Amino acid sequence: MKILVTGATGFIGTALCSHLLKNNHSVHYLVTDATDIKDKKNYKGFLWNPEKNEIDLNSLAEVDAIVNLAGHTINCKWTDENKKQIHNSRINCSNTLFNALQDNEHQVKFIVNASAIGIYQSSETAVYTENSTGFGDDFLATVCKDWEAANLRFEGLGIKTAITRFGLILSKDNGVLHELAKVVSKGLGANLGNGKQWMSWIHFNDVIQMIYQILNQQQNGIFNVVAPNPVRQNEFLKLLASQLNKPLWLPNIPSIFIKIGLGERSALVLSSQHVQSVKLPEIGCKFMFTNLESTLKDLYKSNE
Ligand SMILES: NC(=O)c1ccc[n+]([C@@H]2O[C@H](COP(=O)([O-])OP(=O)(O)OC[C@H]3O[C@@H](n4cnc5c(N)ncnc54)[C@H](OP(=O)(O)O)[C@@H]3O)[C@@H](O)[C@H]2O)c1
Repeated sequence: MKILVTGATGFIGTALCSHLLKNNHSVHYLVTDATDIKDKKNYKGFLWNPEKNEIDLNSLAEVDAIVNLAGHTINCKWTDENKKQIHNSRINCSNTLFNALQDNEHQVKFIVNASAIGIYQSSETAVYTENSTGFGDDFLATVCKDWEAANLRFEGLGIKTAITRFGLILSKDNGVLHELAKVVSKGLGANLGNGKQWMSWIHFNDVIQMIYQILNQQQNGIFNVVAPNPVRQNEFLKLLASQLNKPLWLPNIPSIFIKIGLGERSALVLSSQHVQSVKLPEIGCKFMFTNLESTLKDLYKSNE
């Protein structure tokens, strides 16, 4: 298969492209910076500027499927300007792809689009599956809702469309685990808020496998990309501290202080989503990592 990847220089995109190449697929990818363009036998970069609806149409040549991951990072201060970037960059990327596919000859039959479990309303009691419609109305939920709506338009072009709502992706070098481990490894770990928030996590390697399976099977619809056993934050931190051989003795940090420190961005650590995937097992996807303790052990094994 020839696959066009957006967000190919990012955390997920880099690993996904390597996995696709290892499995003998050919990769085209879109980047916003010309210095990231490489032109190898099965790995070719092309320039786009989604803000201006500009895209090198050669990127679509002989492409069978697209994986659309691109969007401005959420790991920044949530100023008004950055929030606009976080929201608009995603919609612009989807719309630029949509316009190119609508207006030009192509052979794309399938598209996978990223989203996030942040679409679900924060709750310490609800359990969300792909059929749930309990969406939130905070900033991240709004971004996800608008982004998914933009991506569902591909169906109207006769392109089968999958939406992957990623959970908390665990990697030693990136994302939530990396940030929490920095604090816990200094012996400064403490529950954030009441500690009862659900954390629906997934091992990074499983994320790549799940995207790959969905792509290979060309399965459309919504997929919650989370491991089967979410935990509450206090359990997560307990297991992380134990893995790092550090104490977890400080009292909880009350939500109010976190909200004062982080503002709206406090939602990243205070919100609670207990999410299950019904669809991934249904299409035969098997997780390599289902238990948090063994996942952490695996991620930190090179440290032992
Ligand atoms: N990582 C997670 O835990 C997680 C969880 C839920 C959802 N997601 C979503 O999954 C997607 C991939 O995640 P990731 O962690 O791999 O993200 P990432 O490391 O931040 O990479 C994002 C990619 O998007 C591109 N990008 C950034 N701003 C852009 C813009 N204004 N216009 C066009 N492209 C832009 C960048 O490519 P260029 O170099 O070409 O600019 C970069 O490769 C993201 O959209 C993210 O929101 C991630």
